[in-house]
This record gives sequence, C-alpha cells and structure tokens, in this order.
Amino acid sequence: MAYTIKVNAVDHSVDVAGDTPLLWVLRDVLGMTGTKFGCGKALCGACTILVDDIATRSCITTIDSIGTASITTIEAIENTPSGKKIQKAWLDLEVVQCGYCQSGQIVSASALLASNPNPSDADIDDAMAGNICRCGTYLRIREAIKQAAQSAATNGQRG
Ligand code: FES
Ligand code: FES
Repeated sequence: MAYTIKVNAVDHSVDVAGDTPLLWVLRDVLGMTGTKFGCGKALCGACTILVDDIATRSCITTIDSIGTASITTIEAIENTPSGKKIQKAWLDLEVVQCGYCQSGQIVSASALLASNPNPSDADIDDAMAGNICRCGTYLRIREAIKQAAQSAATNGQRG
C-alpha cells in the first residue's frame, strides 16, 4: 500500500505493507541507516526517533499508525534546537564508545531537553532509562545532557 510520510521535513512516498515497522521503512526503503536495530521489541532504545517531537521506538511503530505526523531521525536531529545542543555536548565530552546505541541516546536526550530544559539527575535517569548502552556510557550521557541544558540556559540569558 502507498503511504506518504514526512521524514526530516521532506515528504516521501513508499509502498509497503501497513504493518511494516517504521524502522525498516527508514533503513531499507529510504536508506536512512543512522537509526539502529537492536532488539525489535522496544527494549533497548537503539531505534529511537521523534514522532511529532515525542521519543518513539520505531521498531514497534507501524507505518499505518503515522498518518501526518512529522518524523525526525538522527540524520536531522541537529536541525532541532535541543538536538544541536545535545550533539555539541556529546562531542565535547566524547560520550561515544562503540557508538551503536548512540543514535537512540541522542534522540531521546534531545526529546528530554526540548520538553524539560533543566532536567534533574532523576529526570535524566527516567527519560533515558529505556536506552541501553552495553558500553556503559551512562555517566557521560548524563553529564552531556547537563552541559547541553546549561548551554541552553546561558544562551537564553544572552537573549
Ligand atoms: S530496536 Fe527498537 S527498542 Fe530495541
Ligand atoms: S556506546 Fe556502545 S553500546 Fe552504547
């Protein structure tokens, strides 16, 4: 069946079964391989994307559930204000180890910062709990989110 979905501000027409997970549409049909497959069961967070600014597991989100929602993937997260700050902090603090989980981590962190500009440690732990990192980069992730929040506050003061 034909669907038109908006990904990273561009409309794409795809012809797939309605129960196809968005993860496979992104990776296999549209060639956007930044979003990763980990578990396929909403347990690891590697496949996290934004659907209308909400962090969403694309491995269990079917294309027929998307409608006119706006999808943002890691390929365009830097175009969101929070995503830009998160990516800078990730680089500054050298968060990444093997990198496999990091697309999902960055997307989840960007969604957190967009909805909560000054998250506490508990807020961060809550928001990021579904994103697993087998390399154990959790402490650097937390520090990077704090740095990004701090930079947002500083920029705000400067107007
Ligand atoms: S691949 Fe989607 S949560 Fe693990
Ligand atoms: S950086 Fe290796 S799994 Fe997270």
